[in-house]
Parts: sequence; C-alpha cells; structure tokens
Amino acid sequence: MGFFITFEGVEGCGKTTQLRLLKERLEADGEKVVATREPGGCPIADQMRAILLDAGNSAITPLAELLLYAAARAQHVQEVIVPALERGETVLCDRFTDATVAYQGHGRELDLDVIGQLNALATGGVQPDLTVLIDCPVQVGLSRALSRIEATSGAREERFELESVRFHERVREGYLALARAYPERFVVVDGSGDVARTEVLVTAALSGRLQGGR
Ligand SMILES: Nc1ncnc2c1ncn2[C@@H]1O[C@H](COP(=O)(O)OP(=O)(O)OP(=O)(O)O)[C@@H](O)[C@H]1O
Ligand SMILES: [Mg+2]
Repeated sequence: MGFFITFEGVEGCGKTTQLRLLKERLEADGEKVVATREPGGCPIADQMRAILLDAGNSAITPLAELLLYAAARAQHVQEVIVPALERGETVLCDRFTDATVAYQGHGRELDLDVIGQLNALATGGVQPDLTVLIDCPVQVGLSRALSRIEATSGAREERFELESVRFHERVREGYLALARAYPERFVVVDGSGDVARTEVLVTAALSGRLQGGR
C-alpha cells in the first residue's frame, strides 16, 4: 500500500502551497504521487464542492453541510484515494477527515461522536499515515486567503472566509486538540513565516517519517 499524507489547517495557512512543494520534492525523488483535495477530488465530488463552498449557499443547514461533506468524501475515497494507495502511490490530500472535525465539530459545534461515525462510514476506515497541520494565527491566514480571492475572478469559493473570526479561532483550536490527541499521526508546523520558511519546517518535520524512513 502507498503512503497517505493529509494537509490541514485554517484558511490561508499554506496547505495548497506546501502540498505542491512536497509533491515536487517527492517526484524529484522518483516517487509516484497523486495530489488531491477535499471537498472534491473527482468530478462527482467536485459538484458537491461547488454547493458547499458557494457563498450564495449561506442558508445550508449545518446537518446538510455535514452530510454533503460525507457524501463527497465517500466518492473521493473509493474513486481516487483507495485505488492510488493500492497501486502503491503516495497520496497527498489537501484537507480530509480532520477538517470535518475542526470545522463542523469545533467550528459549528456539531456532535463530535456523530462526526466520528460519519467519517468512519465515509472513509471505510481509511486513515492518513501522516497529517501535516500548518498552524498560524487565523488573522494571518484569513488575510492571505482574502488577498488571493481579490486577485482571482470567476467562481468564488469563499463561504468559509466570510465566517466570523471567532469561528476560525474554534477551528484552529480544534485542529490543535486533534494534534494533541493523535501525536503519532500529526506533525504540527508553524505556518506564520514566509513560504520558504514553512517549506523548511515541513521538510524537517517529515524527515524520517515518510515511507521507507526518508
Ligand atoms: N507562508 C506564506 N506566506 C505568505 N503567503 C503565503 C504563504 N503560504 C501561502 N501564501 C499565499 O497565501 C495564499 C493562501 O495560501 P494557500 O492557498 O497555500 O493556503 P491554503 O491553506 O491552501 O488556503 P485555503 O484554506 O483557503 O485553501 C496564496 O495566495 C499563497 O500564495
Ligand atoms: Mg488551499
């Protein structure tokens, strides 16, 4: 089986940037890498992503949101993640089950047991071998994410950026609580520095922890 790494953290902490950099490093080492993301990662789940992240859907109920995340994840795990791991490839996924615990559990304050059951159902028990939590103050991440939104036009995936700072603080704390609860699976990296600094920290945190002890 391949190695499964997820990237987590608040909006704008640098997940997508650091995932891309790790993919380049692993591929330069000759590894086969599948980079994917949640919600989405395949055409059917991407359609659910569009509903979930559309700022026009602010009336979605917390339960409907939770179930859509689970539905998108079930499709993505079966269609993309499990086949890649079975081919022996390394899978890098931008957000996964921990995001549901942090956002819907700690952020929206839905029942953590229900979320745990839905995560187990949607994944069929597939869990990351390693989770990189990029931690930074929420205002730092939000200002990066908002400047990115202002710089792009077209489809606007900004529903979570529009949530209150209090919401994002709960999400950040939820992620840190997960890292404390699962210290063997999590590495926590400070994402408040620049891209190069964070890349150095991610590389150092992963050294010796990747498959084959690299
Ligand atoms: N360490 C950094 N310092 C400054 N800017 C950064 C840093 N890392 C990423 N950025 C920039 O900030 C923006 C957000 O970064 P990125 O998309 O990697 O974050 P993310 O965690 O994936 O955000 P989201 O949760 O919104 O998907 C991008 O425009 C990116 O180029
Ligand atoms: Mg991103």
